[in-house]
This record gives sequence, C-alpha cells and structure tokens, in this order.
Amino acid sequence: MQQVVRQWRAVDPAVDDLGTLIAARRPGYSLPAALYTGTAAFEADVDVVFHRHWIVVGVEADVPEPGDVYAVDIGPTPIVLVRDDAGEIRAFHNTCSHRGAKIVPSGRAIVGKLVCPYHQWTYELTGELTGAPHMGLDFDKALHHLQPIHLRNVAGIIYVCLSNDPPQDMDDFVAAMTPRIAPYDLANTKIAYETDIVEDGNWKLTMENNRECYHCAGNHPELALSFHSSDFGFDPTDLSDDERADAEHLAATYAERTAQWEACGLPSEAIDHVAGHATQFRSQRLIIAGAGESQTLDTRAAVRVPLSEAVATGTGDMHLWTVNGWNHFMGDHAVVFMVLPLGTDKTLVRTKWLVHKDAEEGEDYDLANLISVWTDTNREDAALVKIAHEGAMSAGYRPGPYSRFTERTLDDWCTWYIERMQASGYGV
Ligand code: FES
Ligand SMILES: [Fe+2]
Repeated sequence: MQQVVRQWRAVDPAVDDLGTLIAARRPGYSLPAALYTGTAAFEADVDVVFHRHWIVVGVEADVPEPGDVYAVDIGPTPIVLVRDDAGEIRAFHNTCSHRGAKIVPSGRAIVGKLVCPYHQWTYELTGELTGAPHMGLDFDKALHHLQPIHLRNVAGIIYVCLSNDPPQDMDDFVAAMTPRIAPYDLANTKIAYETDIVEDGNWKLTMENNRECYHCAGNHPELALSFHSSDFGFDPTDLSDDERADAEHLAATYAERTAQWEACGLPSEAIDHVAGHATQFRSQRLIIAGAGESQTLDTRAAVRVPLSEAVATGTGDMHLWTVNGWNHFMGDHAVVFMVLPLGTDKTLVRTKWLVHKDAEEGEDYDLANLISVWTDTNREDAALVKIAHEGAMSAGYRPGPYSRFTERTLDDWCTWYIERMQASGYGV
C-alpha cells in the first residue's frame, strides 16, 4: 500500500504573529497552538528564555579538574564551561574571536589550552588569546579574548545567562537554593550515567509535562512507587472517606517532617517563585513513599555511599524546578535534568545521575538499579510530549482548561512565559 506522507501546515501565517498569540492567552488554559508549534514563537523563546534568562547547563562534575571543558549548545549558541588552572569554573561563548568558528566539539574533553581547529588561534583556560599566527606584530591579542558568559555555580549546579544584563533576581535563587543543595556536597560527586533524549515536541510541552503529576498515576508506574499519590494533587471536593483520611494523614506527616528537617538545618518548606519573577523556581522537600530512601524500584537507596553524612538517612527528596530543568536530590544520589531547544518540535532532555565520587559501580551500586526509574520515566514522558505536540499541530486543537487542583503550576508557568515575553518586548 502506498504510504501517504502529508505535510501539515503548523500555523496559519496570518496568526503566526506573536502579538496576536500572546494577547490570545487565556488564564487557566493551555497556550494558543502556534505558541507551541510556530517558528516565530520558537525563535522568540530562544531569544527570550534561553538567551536572556538564567538557565541550567551542567553540573560541577562535568568539569571536575583543571583542564576539563564541557561544551553545550543553547539553541544555536554554543558555549563552553572550562575549569581553569586555578580551579575556577568559567563560561565562554564557544565561538572563535577570529572568524567565529565553533572551537570545542559539543561534550566533554580535557585540554591544555583551547585551540580553534580552523586557523589555530589559541586561548588560555582563562579565555585569554595567546596564539594568533600571522596576524602581524601590531595585532593586539588582548582585544580578542573569548567572550565570557555570566555564570553562577549554585552548590554544584551550573547556571549561565547569555545576556549582558542578566536578571538580578538570580541572587534570590542563589540565597534560597544554596542552603538546600549544599548539604548534598555535589562538588564531591561524579556523573555515574548520562542520557540525551530528543523528544518530538516543543520545549514548553516538555516543561509543562514535567510541572504536573496529574499524568503520573496513569503513566509512571515506576516513579509512582516513590511518590505519595496525594503529592500528585487532588480535588478535595471529590474524595472518598478513605482518600480524605489518607490525605489528612499525609498532610499532618508533612507538617511534622518538614518541621523536623528545618530544625536539623535542612530547609524544606515549599518555595514558589514563578509568576511575577524573572528567575523562576520552585522547590520543596518531599517525603519518599515505601521504604522512603530513594527513587528506585524498591524505594531503597541504590548507592551504598551517601552523598554526605548530612543527608545520609531520612532526608526525603529535595525537588527543584527551574525554567529549563528539574532535579531530585536524595541521600544516595541526585538526578539533574536540563532541557535545551532544538527546534519547534525537537527538544533535548539531558539527564545526569550523580553519585559520591568514591562510590564504585558494581561495588557500591548497581547501575541498572540506579537509573531504572528515571530511564523508564523519561521514555514514558517522551511519548506524552510527542502526543501533546501532535495534538497542538491539529486543526482540532483548542487551548484546554488546566485543573486548578493538579495543574495550577502550569497556569503559573504560562503566566510567567507571557510576562517574560512581554517584558522582553514581544507582543506589546
Ligand atoms: S576561526 Fe578560529 S582560528 Fe580562524
Ligand atoms: Fe511524567
């Protein structure tokens, strides 16, 4: 049978107009289709979100030693993280000051200097240009330093902002999150495993999918083992007596555990900085269900060596959600996710599993056990993002209502998005 391949038009060009689309956003509803599927929105997203806001690009363990470099592509813009000889982590545009060639291939490497492969201009790990053959004795190398990028290392998680004028409220994020992440001692971790998944959907659908767990009970049997179902959100007017008793018991347990954690110097109360803030983040320490130790299939620690003594037992799961990532910090390991846009309907989801640097695979942890839950969950989420994008491409798509009980965070997310687009000059 002949296969018919149809090219659907994602957007009527007449409404691929950001002003119209942004004005059409209805609070409480998902976005107009072309904000997910249109090229104008995608290009504006890269400009506004990925080039003008603080985004997560890596972890300290990506560049553990002097001479380590880690190159990441932020949409069309390649950058490189470098650990210099003094141990400082720096970020530069991965773009040669000569004629702009990309200097370092994407991924990790160990170098003495950064040498552009095109004409061998050579940069120190500080970004200083020290070699530029045949440019003449009067050529001033000092004027052709690699372009530095704003970087904040938040207790081992690396955020950058490509703008020369980065949002100042990053200080609020650093102040709130440093004491939450620091007990996990990420400077002394290694990357036990890393995956790159390309999801067939717009990056905002990837982020929306992650921001709610409405879909978890029906799609994530592995992850659901370590969550209390009430943490997925629920309609309080529609509970059986047993469900109500469970929810009340869990709420009381949370109040008690949160007070205990806070008393031990582990900040745990929920923080919700999304709408109204340039640098959005949410954080909360959650109770792990079952044996209570880790996001594994038996909910027990996967790694025998804890990340630190401070978090060795009973410290739950510290969640952190940022504009392009999410994180779970547990006593035995951490999982750090980052989302990078590849195209209107292509999104890179990069996942790093961190364990203590002294933990030995096969001795202290079984890799398959360590990565099982999130490998399955990522695969399941990729399928959901794909059908969400397929739906947004459809002539039948209409912005749909978010549940005010289980998807409030998505409404906040969309409000943030519209606010930031407008603050950046789009749709005003
Ligand atoms: S472009 Fe890098 S040395 Fe010429
Ligand atoms: Fe999910």
